[in-house]
Amino acid sequence: MTAPQRLTLRTPDDWHLHLRDGAMLEAVARATSAQFRRAIVMPNLVPPVRRSEDAARYRDAILAAVPPGQAFEPLMTLYLTETTEAEDLRKGWAAGLVTAVKLYPAGATTNSDAGVRDLKVLDAVFETMAELGMPLLIHGEVVDPEIDIFDREAVFIERELKPLRQRHPGLKVVFEHITTAEAVAYVESEGPNLAATLTAHHLRLNRNDLLVGGMRPHHFCLPVAKREAHRLALRRAATSGNPKFFLGTDSAPHLVSDKESACGCAGIFSAPVAMESYATTFEEDGALDKLEAFASEFGPRFYGLPLNEGTITLERTEDPVPVNWATPLGDVRIYHGGEVLPWRLVGDAR
Ligand code: DOR
Ligand code: ZN
Repeated sequence: MTAPQRLTLRTPDDWHLHLRDGAMLEAVARATSAQFRRAIVMPNLVPPVRRSEDAARYRDAILAAVPPGQAFEPLMTLYLTETTEAEDLRKGWAAGLVTAVKLYPAGATTNSDAGVRDLKVLDAVFETMAELGMPLLIHGEVVDPEIDIFDREAVFIERELKPLRQRHPGLKVVFEHITTAEAVAYVESEGPNLAATLTAHHLRLNRNDLLVGGMRPHHFCLPVAKREAHRLALRRAATSGNPKFFLGTDSAPHLVSDKESACGCAGIFSAPVAMESYATTFEEDGALDKLEAFASEFGPRFYGLPLNEGTITLERTEDPVPVNWATPLGDVRIYHGGEVLPWRLVGDAR
């Protein structure tokens, strides 16, 4: 069979995205709105998006940053803290303003200091979420300094995720940006209340790509990329056609100057090339026929939202991906910058 020259898919959604705020938001919003119709927007701003009223303000700022004429719907999340009130979640949910709640273990990643130390104090909040059908989105890494960074996801499953889900079997959970074979196996073994997102970069990078031949700060993200065997398990999950695994880029812009630093920030900015990167991966694995469901169907089905009506088209290219995305604050390195990917989105924002 000859390789296709064009690929038309139902318009996809990004089920895990960092848009930031202020000048960065204004500079990066169009990268996502050119590719995706909706995105689950992460709340780890400074200060975090904690209450429904914060989400309303943030949604307005996002809509103002999207180029006119581009239909884009930000799906807002609230940042869970130990003082989150079930009543505020009910209010945000009833108003159609809040789609999900994000759990950061305190200290796990960028701007997570206000996150949760003890999940048990939130049992009443989780009960309310289960009753509403509101998903809990989890950054699944323990923060125990005794635990090696490469083991933090696998240990989180045993110490936190299994007990949480046993206490709240009715709670819908998305295990975000999974990076290990253990996470794949756990999600596969559980019922329909548990799903996982997979980033474009964790399907392509292992820890050698971070450390061999020199330290590569632009490949640093959290959870950190693991050994090759884990990457292969993630690829098998993504291309398997199992609806419990769907697209979430975790695109996370940081200035080049903040990445190339003595204490470099975690995050990979993949929004401008997201569908191109996923398409490349699926094609390499002979699974282009599985891409549309992964990118455009399984996410909305899990969230109980309608599928998008429109389509996007990717076409063959030999043009390299631009290296940087210019912002008024400075450059942001684009994932795959300088590489030639075989696909390019028609109407992309590069
Ligand atoms: O690499 C990451 N960057 N992982 C996260 O969990 C947060 C994100 C960010 O906000 O920069
Ligand atoms: Zn994230």
